[in-house]
Amino acid sequence: MKWEKKDIISIKEFSRSEIEFVLQKSAIMEKIMHKSATSSLLSGRIMASLFFEPSTRTRLSFNSAMYRLGGNVIGFAQSTGTSVEKGETILDTAKMAEGYSDLIVIRNPLEGSVRFVSEHVKVPVINAGDGANQHPTQTLLDLYTMQKEFGGIDGLRICLLGDLKYGRAIHSLAEALKQFNVELKLISPPELRMPSRITQDLVELGVDVNETSKLDLSDCDVIYATRIQKERFPDPQEYESVKDAFILNKEILPQLKENAIILHPLPRINEIQPEIDETKYARYFEQARNGIPVRMALLCLLLNKKFW
Ligand code: NCD
Repeated sequence: MKWEKKDIISIKEFSRSEIEFVLQKSAIMEKIMHKSATSSLLSGRIMASLFFEPSTRTRLSFNSAMYRLGGNVIGFAQSTGTSVEKGETILDTAKMAEGYSDLIVIRNPLEGSVRFVSEHVKVPVINAGDGANQHPTQTLLDLYTMQKEFGGIDGLRICLLGDLKYGRAIHSLAEALKQFNVELKLISPPELRMPSRITQDLVELGVDVNETSKLDLSDCDVIYATRIQKERFPDPQEYESVKDAFILNKEILPQLKENAIILHPLPRINEIQPEIDETKYARYFEQARNGIPVRMALLCLLLNKKFW
């Protein structure tokens, strides 16, 4: 795969060996960071960060990654205060950022919008989440976390839990796991099941998929919990009826496997109670921190800066 000037729009465009390449380079980047948290690998380069939707981890970790590499960041965390308020389109906004930067990171609520932009600008574009569709860099850091914990991804029994209908982190992760030899348990309220096009693909590719609304986690190595995506529900009443569907608290701990881990892309609302945070199963804060080496590696790859 040619990384220089590549766009990262959907995890579906990554082969297994490309995913493994990123994970391997992220591990190298993490080693480099242990020696020194900052470097000058991307000194003089500028990243434009265009966030049209709320974000804490994705936006700040991209910024931090760029700063740790000696680069600079321009952009906005919300469209208020920009010409979008005057009616400027996302494409015109991105075309401006193209002239002001070397790489663009975009989050937008409209599915497909980031791909559309990437087709019209020459600098690399990274999708930091487009509606309920894709969140490829989240998936890479999720896989990186699993690999670090278990030494590999093949053979894992992974449970995806919560809002499997609207969660883009979940959709991307499921699409990536198709390429690995895993067993998947999909636990959600019946109204929030994984879109059938994704489950069908998984089954066709030979992934063992078990869909249920029963909270049985006893056979899972990885429990990937998610937030019910309130902002994507057309009907607020529907949200009210499912918002407390699955809550991980101390009562579920006795059923977990000895070395199971709990992941979550965060932010969490109530689906993981804080009492879980100090248990040996919780890995969601480490997972979020892993976003730094993974995004540092991706920035270097796309800006053609070799670090290995
Ligand atoms: C997720 C997102 O924005 O899709 N958060 C993240 O990027 N870490 C998950 C969510 O909002 O629930």
